[in-house]
Amino acid sequence: MTVITCIDDLKQIYRRRTPRMFYDYCESGSWTEQTFRENTTDFDKLRLRQRVAVDMSGRSTASQMIGQDVAMPVALAPVGLTGMQHADGEIKAARAAEKFGVPFTLSTMSINSIEDVAAQTSAPFWFQLYTMKDQGFVSSLIQRAKDAKCSALVITLDLQILGQRHKDLKNGLSAPPKLTLSTMADLATKWRWGIEMLSAKRRHFGNIVGHAAGVSDAANLGAWTAEQFDPTLDWDKIARIKEEWGGKVILKGIMEPEDAEMALQVGADALVVSNHGGRQLDGALSSIRALPAILDAVGDRTEVHIDSGIRSGQDVLKALAMGAKGTYVGRAFVYGLGAMGQQGVTKALEVIHKELDVSMALCGRRRIDELGRDILKIPADFEGRWAE
Ligand SMILES: Cc1cc2nc3c(=O)[nH]c(=O)nc-3n(C[C@H](O)[C@H](O)[C@H](O)COP(=O)(O)O)c2cc1C
Repeated sequence: MTVITCIDDLKQIYRRRTPRMFYDYCESGSWTEQTFRENTTDFDKLRLRQRVAVDMSGRSTASQMIGQDVAMPVALAPVGLTGMQHADGEIKAARAAEKFGVPFTLSTMSINSIEDVAAQTSAPFWFQLYTMKDQGFVSSLIQRAKDAKCSALVITLDLQILGQRHKDLKNGLSAPPKLTLSTMADLATKWRWGIEMLSAKRRHFGNIVGHAAGVSDAANLGAWTAEQFDPTLDWDKIARIKEEWGGKVILKGIMEPEDAEMALQVGADALVVSNHGGRQLDGALSSIRALPAILDAVGDRTEVHIDSGIRSGQDVLKALAMGAKGTYVGRAFVYGLGAMGQQGVTKALEVIHKELDVSMALCGRRRIDELGRDILKIPADFEGRWAE
């Protein structure tokens, strides 16, 4: 049995066990992947200040995100097709998050449906909404999330149109995978995935198939998705969705202070500084570089969260020290899930928790609310000096 000490260990196992098409779907960014790469390498540019002879007893990583208690401020980000990375992936990830005491966010484009996850968990989860042209379908998703007692609606704002990932086109990504000679050859080496998938509750998009008009099977789903994402989404529509939902709203995909200001005006309970893990606008700044300007603009008027590029507890620590109130991991939990199912997601959370706890202590801090920019060494040009 391999000893797992870091997120990269889980990634190596995930890569061996998961069909190529789904590994590539996860481990890619759009176009040249510049933003995807810089999301992680820019975390490395921040350094931590080691402090000594500080009492480290009585430490805690407990905190709150949107008023909810969390064992550490690290939520699971919404990830489409999670149930293709591992059989019943969304249910397993949600259960791991619940046991650990961190929020789980279910994607609109999940394989397990809202109802599937609600039936298999007891802690409320968050639902991520993509806005679609079919307003009736959007309203029905909102109602289903309310019925499932979801405790926040995460509205993703950066995917009105899809950024291109070359590998998905070349691999013919679909759920379930279409059986071609090359996928069959690949699946032959991923037999464990195949056997588990045979008993999975679902193998197609559970929130959509059978719920949205004109979609009865996965075959026409790709075309439907491309047609259905709403290119006319604007702040008025976001305000209307917020009103229809009536509960806590998190706006995901904010990269510029002007948009943060708009998010405040529609009354967001939190915003997420995110470039979608480098999957949308290639050439955008990494999230961690975009974060300080947004924090400076927002002040304490709402909570600022961040995702994109977090692969360790040290990354979480840097984001929190910069001023974020919460963080999300996408790929880091998918690696665990693909490697070892629910146990692997738990392992990913344990790894991140331990790294966060020990690194925080080595910086001389015992609690999340003691973190500040004074534990960081920030390069003078970190945010970049750009011509106006
Ligand atoms: C495979 C994959 C699928 C994703 N699907 C969604 C999605 O359905 N909805 C969404 O809002 N974000 C989606 N995202 C973006 C994540 O929510 C998150 O912003 C991103 O993964 C953070 O970057 P990280 O993977 O470096 O942690 C997806 C990301 C990945 C890697």
